[in-house]
Amino acid sequence: MKLRVTLVLVSCILSILTGLVLSRQSGPQSTTSKKRSRPLIGLSMDTLKEARWQGDRDMFVKQANDLGADVEVLEANSDDTRQIKDVEALITKGVDALVIIPHDGAACAKAVELSRQAGIPVLAYDRLITNSDLDLYMTFDNVKVGELQAKFVADEFAKTSGKKRLVRIYGSKTDNNASLFKQGQDNIISPLVEKGEIEVVHEDWAQDWRPENAKKIANAAITKAAAAPGALPFDAILASNDGTAGGAIQALLEEGLAGKIIVTGQDADEAACQRIVAGTQTMTIYKPLKELASKAAEAAVRLAQRRPVIAKAELDNGKVKVPSIFLEVVSVTKDNLKDTVIKDGFLKEDRVFSAQ
Ligand code: BGC
Repeated sequence: MKLRVTLVLVSCILSILTGLVLSRQSGPQSTTSKKRSRPLIGLSMDTLKEARWQGDRDMFVKQANDLGADVEVLEANSDDTRQIKDVEALITKGVDALVIIPHDGAACAKAVELSRQAGIPVLAYDRLITNSDLDLYMTFDNVKVGELQAKFVADEFAKTSGKKRLVRIYGSKTDNNASLFKQGQDNIISPLVEKGEIEVVHEDWAQDWRPENAKKIANAAITKAAAAPGALPFDAILASNDGTAGGAIQALLEEGLAGKIIVTGQDADEAACQRIVAGTQTMTIYKPLKELASKAAEAAVRLAQRRPVIAKAELDNGKVKVPSIFLEVVSVTKDNLKDTVIKDGFLKEDRVFSAQ
């Protein structure tokens, strides 16, 4: 308790002096964990479906291991009940800190509550857990992701005259990030819709971010916006990530429309970058996952050792102001693929260009 009061005081003084905040701190380490020579971190993941999450996991585990900690990883297969059970199992195992990538940002508040009761600090990784006593949140600037996707589309539209027709595919409704991506997209698209420069011909949320659901949305859009023979039904699909872009492009391929319609994405997945090279996808957003995974691993180890973590920002999650760390993102097209994802060693040049 004393430690917590001291940390809160230090955090207040720090934030007044420098604008920095400290992670909120849970109770002392349990007796089980005190007996261990290496800290144990529990990583509870929503899914491993998208390629990015496998990379996140591997880089996180490697960095934590290099820092002298062990990691137990559990994956919930997009199932909220299973994710809560996973967290319970990790708590029972006596982990010293928990890192959660929630399937449902609201449902996982329960997991945070259970961890708090057990005195285990929790870091929300990439996706926010709302209305909960979180210790730390680490992610990218997600509103900026949406803005960059939409700005790309708006800039492409501005190259030719006439009103443009747009299809919007949002992510999973249960993922707070999906709302933030939409919010960023709205910042750019809504004024253009009001000015009459863009018409949104179809929009929907892709449940659980599944490509097959995005494909259904794109199929519905093609049917709804059917154009005269030879004319395009719409000019662009503002897809919120590479998985949904892939599903939408499959629908376009089947109608002979792939490569003729602008398609956005996010994650710089290998398959998406190959599509960018092939010309069926137009852009993606590169989020330096290695930076997120390694900084999160460093923070998790510190939390496990009950050492404070310094964050530059705070985000109100509906219950507390969560000390937060936001990382920058980059817009990627065919033109800067080599100077970004390849140069950074995120993807291998021969793999990305092999499909050519
Ligand atoms: C992540 C994206 C990812 C999506 C689907 C979001 O929360 O920020 O990078 O593509 O989930 O897994």
